[in-house]
Amino acid sequence: MKKIGIIGSGAVAQALGNGFLKYGYDVMLSSRDSSKLSDWKEKGGAKASVGNFKKTAKYGELIVLTVLGRTATDAIEEAGPQNLNGKTVIDTTNPIDEVPPENGVIQYFTHGDESLMEQLQNRFPDINFVKAFSCVGNAFMVNPSFKEGKPSMFICGNKEAAKQQTIAILDKFGWETGDMGKATSARAIEPLCILWCLPGFLRNQWTHAFKMLKM
Ligand SMILES: NC(=O)c1ccc[n+]([C@@H]2O[C@H](COP(=O)([O-])OP(=O)(O)OC[C@H]3O[C@@H](n4cnc5c(N)ncnc54)[C@H](OP(=O)(O)O)[C@@H]3O)[C@@H](O)[C@H]2O)c1
Repeated sequence: MKKIGIIGSGAVAQALGNGFLKYGYDVMLSSRDSSKLSDWKEKGGAKASVGNFKKTAKYGELIVLTVLGRTATDAIEEAGPQNLNGKTVIDTTNPIDEVPPENGVIQYFTHGDESLMEQLQNRFPDINFVKAFSCVGNAFMVNPSFKEGKPSMFICGNKEAAKQQTIAILDKFGWETGDMGKATSARAIEPLCILWCLPGFLRNQWTHAFKMLKM
């Protein structure tokens, strides 16, 4: 697997795109207006390219979905599910609602017994979604250096082979992976973003990551 298609153009798309370039992959980022990515493409060199969502979905042997959560379904429809079926899609999105945080607590449009990734998996059953990178800020997604050692990235998804591909990437990107099971477990992983953001909204502290301690 050499070609990574990233559906998205924001801070996460660029941070992960740079991470994949660092490890020698060919990377395409995407936007509904790809001219906004011309700086990224120029800095990225010969292995960096840009396109729209559909072109990127066709290009990628592995896909990263990194759009505004409430537009994730539309973005996949625009990319063309037929271009993604059978592929691993690393889902970084969080279901953040269009309302301000309450006492620093981000509000979600999902509820406790559902998650955005399950909504996507149910609607697009032939795509192999894996939740990952959703519970840390983009500045720490690739080779973070915390003095306590490697942080934990919690992942989940229904397809074992897709999770193994994701774990291999997380190994390169300096993470210890906690495999939390099937897509249903996104109900537990997605809210970690709310927790991660709380020190930020309450005390302007944004430089941390989770680590699962084990005996
Ligand atoms: N920022 C972080 O540090 C961080 C950390 C962990 C997880 N996440 C999650 O990762 C995802 C991406 O976050 P981000 O901060 O990089 O960017 P973002 O600002 O949340 O999203 C930007 C992306 O969403 C797309 N988008 C916006 N409206 C759209 C629409 N109506 N239809 C289709 N696509 C639309 C944009 O496409 P265009 O280029 O076409 O406008 C762009 O690619 C989010 O779900 C976020 O919750 C973010």
